[in-house]
Amino acid sequence: MKSIVATEYGGPEVLRTVDAPPPAPSEGQVLVRVAASSINPLDWHELRGTPYVVRIMRGLRAPKPSGHAMGSDVAGVVESVGPGVTRFAVGDAVLGFGLGAWSELMVVSEAGLVHKPASLPMTDAGGVGVAATTALQGLRRGGLVAPLTWGPGDVEPMRPRVLIIGASGGVGSFAVQIAKLLGAHVTAVTSTRNLALVARLGADDVIDYTTTEVTRELPRFDLVFELAGNRRVRDLARILTPTGALVSCGAPRGQWLGPLVGPAALAVRSRFSRRTYASFLAKRDTADLQQLADWLGTAALRVVIDEVYPVERIADAVAHAEAGHVRGKVVVDL
Ligand SMILES: NC(=O)c1ccc[n+]([C@@H]2O[C@H](COP(=O)([O-])OP(=O)(O)OC[C@H]3O[C@@H](n4cnc5c(N)ncnc54)[C@H](OP(=O)(O)O)[C@@H]3O)[C@@H](O)[C@H]2O)c1
Repeated sequence: MKSIVATEYGGPEVLRTVDAPPPAPSEGQVLVRVAASSINPLDWHELRGTPYVVRIMRGLRAPKPSGHAMGSDVAGVVESVGPGVTRFAVGDAVLGFGLGAWSELMVVSEAGLVHKPASLPMTDAGGVGVAATTALQGLRRGGLVAPLTWGPGDVEPMRPRVLIIGASGGVGSFAVQIAKLLGAHVTAVTSTRNLALVARLGADDVIDYTTTEVTRELPRFDLVFELAGNRRVRDLARILTPTGALVSCGAPRGQWLGPLVGPAALAVRSRFSRRTYASFLAKRDTADLQQLADWLGTAALRVVIDEVYPVERIADAVAHAEAGHVRGKVVVDL
């Protein structure tokens, strides 16, 4: 089978197409014929081996053979199942994420997959996995758990005020929609060309970061979800309510410790405050993937696609995503 691998660290130019033996699913694993995948920042961090802490896991000078296969998001069709798999059968259309998705075939843990809604095109499904999961789990980490409810005759409760910085990117385009589904009043921060896009996704207010510095806003947000990685924690703290939460996913670019400074600053602040300051890593969670699939199946949630690249142009797709200004997801058609 054809597989896109990286046997050395570097930019998109080090990606190679190789013929690899098809993997076999073991206990609890599903073999998926991949139809579509997408590019996440995780992919180009792994490709470049930066920040250098990535290399502790992947190999110091070059990726270990186990780390050659690239790509995480997957949409495709089940080819076979390993022992103990109960939720899937050959021929099922699925979506989710795992390791080595930029291949004709990949093995994924059963827990990392759900059935693809029939109405959702494969290309859209290929853009869901990591970004949509990060959006859902990040908002939950900031306390946005379920839509508000109130009884007849009750006064409608105040909607939590959520600020999403980096609202037009892969995670942000899902986060705006999910925050609305969870009952928030959403303010989205993006650049001029994406203002209309985030408004269409449901944002109540939009802020153009090229003309307005969001950290000079009034201190009114119950949750700031930070995806751009270029603002100081102490500046963002100024716009939080006294018990508000700052959840940060965005990391400043850098090869050494830069990306680790933000999480450390958040951890220190959290210890001495009534507010929540958190950085987090998205985790594979079947129930979360199912929630996302349910929303996608009813079109309550949609996938914003910037561009679909054929697999032959995957290096261009990675370069496009790494430039940092994608609108929604960059999808790869396998
Ligand atoms: N912790 C985790 O588990 C996890 C998982 C996924 C992603 N992440 C991290 O989350 C971040 C976002 O990921 P992503 O996939 O959404 O990236 P992405 O698709 O590349 O989107 C980045 C967005 O940031 C916006 N942006 C750039 N400069 C900005 C600024 N100064 N102010 C506000 N927005 C700005 C861009 O919008 P414009 O074009 O309008 O500038 C773009 O839409 C990345 O740092 C990624 O590493 C973490």
